[in-house]
Amino acid sequence: MTAGKPYLVWPVVLFGALSVLSACATRPEAEKTRMAPLELEKPASAAPWVRYKGWPSEMWNEYSTLAVAVPSTLSDPIKFDGPITGDPKNGEKLAFDRSRGGGCVACHVMGNPIPPLPGNTGPDLSEYASWGRSDEFTFNYIYDHRKIKPDSMMQPWGAHKLYSANEIKDMVAFLKTQKSPAKFKDNLENPNTRPVPVETRDNFDPFLNEAMAAVEKGKGLFSKEGAGKKSCASCHTDPGSAFKAWAASMPKHEPRLNKVIGVEEFVTRHARATTGEEYLMQSGGNLALSIYLRFLANGQPINVNTASAEHKQAIKRGTALLNRKIGQLDMSCADCHTAERGANKWIRGQWLGEFRGQIDHFPTWRTSRSEIWDITKRLQWCNVSVRANELWPGAPEYGDIELTISALNNGMKLSVPGIRH
Ligand code: HEC
Ligand code: HEC
Ligand code: HEC
Repeated sequence: MTAGKPYLVWPVVLFGALSVLSACATRPEAEKTRMAPLELEKPASAAPWVRYKGWPSEMWNEYSTLAVAVPSTLSDPIKFDGPITGDPKNGEKLAFDRSRGGGCVACHVMGNPIPPLPGNTGPDLSEYASWGRSDEFTFNYIYDHRKIKPDSMMQPWGAHKLYSANEIKDMVAFLKTQKSPAKFKDNLENPNTRPVPVETRDNFDPFLNEAMAAVEKGKGLFSKEGAGKKSCASCHTDPGSAFKAWAASMPKHEPRLNKVIGVEEFVTRHARATTGEEYLMQSGGNLALSIYLRFLANGQPINVNTASAEHKQAIKRGTALLNRKIGQLDMSCADCHTAERGANKWIRGQWLGEFRGQIDHFPTWRTSRSEIWDITKRLQWCNVSVRANELWPGAPEYGDIELTISALNNGMKLSVPGIRH
């Protein structure tokens, strides 16, 4: 109870009940319905936000993010007299180059031999020479497809400076050599027969899921006294029953902040206003308490409000964000996670899931990284992986997206902490 705004918030809690009886006409919203005390002034995450260590450090300031839509200049199609000449060998090398935005093979089967684990989010181009396209069309499609097919999930490779015009000419020359059906070593290499990954590990087995330790840690923190000699347990004596369904109803629009907040930001702000403990978003303590609070609601169907005016608006904003093309790779969430587009297909060796099924297990233990990721960190990674600057964890855009995806997951049962690759 030391920081920022407690003067205003604190008496509200103590005298909340009283105020309902007395002069409630001029009282602010928070007093009417015993709202949870929240600290409202300070940022809930490290500020200024700095990207995680070990993540790509590049910044993509000239491209759109979830917060800022940078209008893109579309390139006019370039005219060519006659066939395009280029170096097909170099074109092949470039098309396979993973350092250039993932390489064409992330989405297309092509080449002879085909490089390991091609994806199938785009069509098989191994017989592209027989598609009857002009060189000019192929060049312009690769350089900037947006004047030809605006809704494609392909990258505007030339316009977004991933390849030069001469390099694209080499790739056109390479594609003209693609004349025979792809030959795969085995079923694993063929993205159309590769077995779909199914997560079968028991996420509640502490020997498999290291995030189970966070449940115990969170439980411990719940009883830890802060500077004011109060712990969470001082006010919430029976969290198991008090919070049996709470986490399944999150995230929620918070009128005092005028944005949607999830469990993680609630923990930061509520702790500041009550025990005085500092649990910045993305800190170990925040993850532990957030996992513990969700653990108490395990088995409950996700049940976010989709009816209130604020939530309807937030879901509208969230839906627009899911469809916004962002980053140097110019991709939207929907490009990778809706069935009409990339979902239920392979992007190189990664199987793309649909939004439904994506949120019931967060925070999740990521075995490939030996880290717990909450939903915000996952969203940040999905930003950086299309070369878009991520936002800070408390960004309102992430709240809108979390609510929108949660609404698509309503009815699915919470199972936290999850475990994923
Ligand atoms: C993120 C997935 C993705 C990546 C990466 C990708 N493509 Fe595509 N590509 C597609 C999809 C999807 C289509 C199908 C048509 C469409 O929606 O654009 C396509 C279509 C094409 C076509 C066919 C156009 C036509 O109709 O004749 C060509 C040629 C092509 N891509 C070349 C490339 C090249 C070269 C690269 C690498 C520089 C590449 N693609 C990388 C997704 C991708
Ligand atoms: C000084 C008392 C106090 C302390 C300490 C306290 N809380 Fe609360 N908490 C409240 C009040 C008041 C509410 C409003 C709802 C209610 O009456 O239960 C609340 C609500 C909640 C809710 C439900 C939120 C909602 O919107 O209904 C959760 C979850 C919660 N607290 C968790 C915690 C955690 C975790 C801690 C420790 C970091 C903590 N509380 C510490 C007083 C406290
Ligand atoms: C280039 C493709 C791509 C784009 C674009 C993309 N993601 Fe992802 N996303 C992935 C991959 C790959 C995974 C890991 C495999 C999986 O679970 O689908 C993933 C995982 C996720 C998960 C966790 C799924 C789980 O079950 O653990 C969520 C949630 C998610 N993405 C949301 C988003 C949102 C929201 C956006 C837009 C801001 C987005 N993604 C953009 C590729 C993408």
